[in-house]
Amino acid sequence: MNTDKILVWDLPTRVFHWLLATSFVGAFVTAESEHFRDVHVVLGYTVAGLIGFRLLWGMIGTRYANFRSFVFGPRAVLEYLISLFTRTPELYVGHNPVGSWAIWTLLALGLLSAGSGYAVYSDLGGEWLEEVHEALSNTMLAVVAVHIAGVLLSSLLHRENLVSAMITGYKHGVQAEAVHRTHWIAGILLAASVGAYWAGVF
Ligand code: HEM
Ligand code: HEM
Repeated sequence: MNTDKILVWDLPTRVFHWLLATSFVGAFVTAESEHFRDVHVVLGYTVAGLIGFRLLWGMIGTRYANFRSFVFGPRAVLEYLISLFTRTPELYVGHNPVGSWAIWTLLALGLLSAGSGYAVYSDLGGEWLEEVHEALSNTMLAVVAVHIAGVLLSSLLHRENLVSAMITGYKHGVQAEAVHRTHWIAGILLAASVGAYWAGVF
């Protein structure tokens, strides 16, 4: 049985995730008011910086954080979706194929939102650019909603708490599938860099 507790998400991946969620929500909440424009811009840049870090970590990070472990074609997505309607849904230790597609979409939309925000802020375009920036951010919000629903649904279907796994890093599984290093230093450095950036500007 899968009774061992195994490390799946290294610290940098978890720090990245929760700072990304916080910065995105923060950027959204502060979007409408002129008064909070500076906060909005800083949180938007944080989203971009975090995603930049994630792209690097996807190449050098541990097994399930590594992009190699979550590149899936349409066939894998379809097979996973079909398996959800059977008694034995396919179980993935890292990201499942559908989740992976949501993640790629979120990473791309995060960069596009922040990039278009920068263009608006630098007066590189007219009102149409503001519309594009708003539309990209709203699309990202919609994908975040689907992402959260997917996380909750697959937690129920697989009877495993994916949210606590993204907090603690641990899931139940077999030792052979565990990640061996949590990369404390890289995780703390990431959190400290964001903290220093915020402390410097706020
Ligand atoms: C609010 C904005 C959010 C954004 C932009 C976001 C984005 C992401 C991204 C990019 C990943 C991939 C992690 C990686 O490998 O780097 C991820 C995974 C994950 N997120 Fe979020 N997330 C958000 C909110 C949330 C919330 C509120 C929850 C909890 C309910 C959550 C739960 C998870 C879980 C459990 C995973 C791992 C999924 C898996 O096991 O494959 N996320 N999220
Ligand atoms: C991913 C992060 C971001 C999200 C989710 C986001 C979201 C939004 C949204 C929803 C609006 C429309 C507000 C409204 O009028 O109803 C907005 C406006 C704006 N954003 Fe962002 N934004 C992000 C990043 C940025 C960045 C990095 C910058 C600047 C460097 C920026 C600059 C602006 C500016 C100047 C406006 C006002 C445009 C106007 O006058 O209508 N945003 N943002």
